[in-house]
Amino acid sequence: MNIRPRRLRRTPAIRDMVRETALSPKDFIAPLFVKHGHGIKDPIPSMPGQFQFSPDTVTEEVRELRSLSVPAVILFGLPDSKDPTGTRSFADDGVVQRAVSEIKEKAPEVLVFTDVCLCEYTDHGHCGILKEGEVDNDATLEVLALQAISHAKAGADFVAPSDMMDGRVAAIRWELDEAGFHKTGILSYAVKYSSGFYGPFREAADSAPQFGDRAGYQMDPANALEALKEASLDVDEGADMIMVKPALSYLDIIRRVRDQCVLPLAAYNVSGEYAMVKAAQERGWIDGNRVMMETLISIKRAGADLILTYFAKEAAALLRK
Ligand code: PBG
Repeated sequence: MNIRPRRLRRTPAIRDMVRETALSPKDFIAPLFVKHGHGIKDPIPSMPGQFQFSPDTVTEEVRELRSLSVPAVILFGLPDSKDPTGTRSFADDGVVQRAVSEIKEKAPEVLVFTDVCLCEYTDHGHCGILKEGEVDNDATLEVLALQAISHAKAGADFVAPSDMMDGRVAAIRWELDEAGFHKTGILSYAVKYSSGFYGPFREAADSAPQFGDRAGYQMDPANALEALKEASLDVDEGADMIMVKPALSYLDIIRRVRDQCVLPLAAYNVSGEYAMVKAAQERGWIDGNRVMMETLISIKRAGADLILTYFAKEAAALLRK
């Protein structure tokens, strides 16, 4: 027996030298929830360690992330009121718009992404405008573009449409350019599955659909070729980066999209994936830190360049040691 793979596992120094994948705080985009008010930091019960912030406290959180070398955040808004067409989503004094301006004023070096979608802003909780009980694709595009422009105006570096309407990347790109925001980028949630793993998020963002589900616009978990189609459409429509979401049940999809596409690829380690680790850790069933790091490295190894993760702060702190 002359080939002994264990030689390369013998000591920490050897293992360090031959490790194939590295994780860095620079890989992370931290998702943050904002609502109106001042001095707010309300814990989210289903996501231990995560909070709903007001624009002032979210700015503090962003600074803390920055001090841990996390370069970017993505903001989700809880508006003061909802209506059938989500008009608060594109208000200049909307909560995300305010939070973006405050962050850009006090921590301009941090990259700010904003989620572009209507589910948090509509009273029915669907990601678009309803016509005869169904989400109307083309009517929704107009509102999404208005929302994207208002985020760009507030100073967002990238807008991130998560609604899964057809043609939204092209529509948003066109309208951003028309309005003079050619520097604002688009991170498209190109491959977004209709997933049970979004459960805790819908509580955190108060965005659960009031009837039905999102299967008419989000993807069927059984499909992989469709992911490649969605990814290439968004590349053609002008996305700067694309995303696969969720991450863990879709590592094969991350790899296949990575192999097909030359844009930076992000993966969203979603709320349910976070909550499961936290819950098992609380019960003493797993070593939470170890599973967190294993989760993140697996997403990177599968081919993601960037990871949207609620673990950003904790993992960045561990990586520093
Ligand atoms: C909004 C949106 C959702 C998530 C990100 N953007 C929820 C959904 O589609 O129902 C989920 C993120 C998470 O679970 O962490 N459309």
